[in-house]
Amino acid sequence: MKIIGGISSQSLSKRISDKLDIPIVAIEYKTFPDGEKYCRILEDIEGEDVLVVQSISSDSDLIYLLEIIDACKNLEVGKKIVLIPYFGYARQDKIFEIGEPISARVIAGLIKADKIYTVNIHSRSVLNFFGSPVDDLNAMPLLVDHIKDTSLTDPVVVAPDEGSADTVFNAASNYYDFDYMEKTRISSDKVVIKPKKLDVRGRDIVIMDDMISTGGTVLETAKMMKENGANDIYALCVHPVLVRDTLLRLYAAGIKEVISTDTIEKITSRVSIAPMITEKLKTMF
Ligand code: R5P
Repeated sequence: MKIIGGISSQSLSKRISDKLDIPIVAIEYKTFPDGEKYCRILEDIEGEDVLVVQSISSDSDLIYLLEIIDACKNLEVGKKIVLIPYFGYARQDKIFEIGEPISARVIAGLIKADKIYTVNIHSRSVLNFFGSPVDDLNAMPLLVDHIKDTSLTDPVVVAPDEGSADTVFNAASNYYDFDYMEKTRISSDKVVIKPKKLDVRGRDIVIMDDMISTGGTVLETAKMMKENGANDIYALCVHPVLVRDTLLRLYAAGIKEVISTDTIEKITSRVSIAPMITEKLKTMF
């Protein structure tokens, strides 16, 4: 088996290659003067099984992924396994307002492989849109393992909303007190968000979510925690989308550390999903 590293998942590809002791295929990427994307696999990989690793964080990431898969087909590779560590567009997984597309369905339908892996996809309903066999892997336990090595004061792990509560609870509740933020509607225009049950006074808080994008969810949660007397606040996520100046705003709001996995390669990507991926792949071969 060989690894084809996508342009958005270069370090992760190397980590997986080291762990499995399998080589990375030489590939060239370029952008034409008009902005069109081009790639070319520079090795003869006919008959070889390949693992393509490419997150979809931008439109061009998707184009490159589709191009790589097509190039693999043209080279008559063996099995094509595609790992999409971050699957963008998953939040448009249904029609919220009349006239909208289901973008996640559009994208998922384009990706054809013998097996596809996603990681903490925003909504599991998106898995039904793939036309190829797909599995979603859960990286939350890796984040929990990471915090086990951090010295914290009487920590509480907090899911910022009821949507992420189950996944965070399953990963963390054997080791830490767990709570989630509950929204209570006071009047038609007033919503109070507060910890569901625990007194967080004087305790360190670990906010865990599938992704941090604009940071709004974490900032609101952190504000409530502070108002409830929490001590240090850490923000952990699987996917560090972290648009524009989000990281800076999180630090400015007093978040002590922002830690994520490497499904998207950012400065916060201190926890690698490579061990989880390699364990999974070993069961396939
Ligand atoms: C929401 O359902 C997700 O789990 C995240 O909480 C959300 O996508 C984070 O977005 P933002 O950082 O923009 O608040």
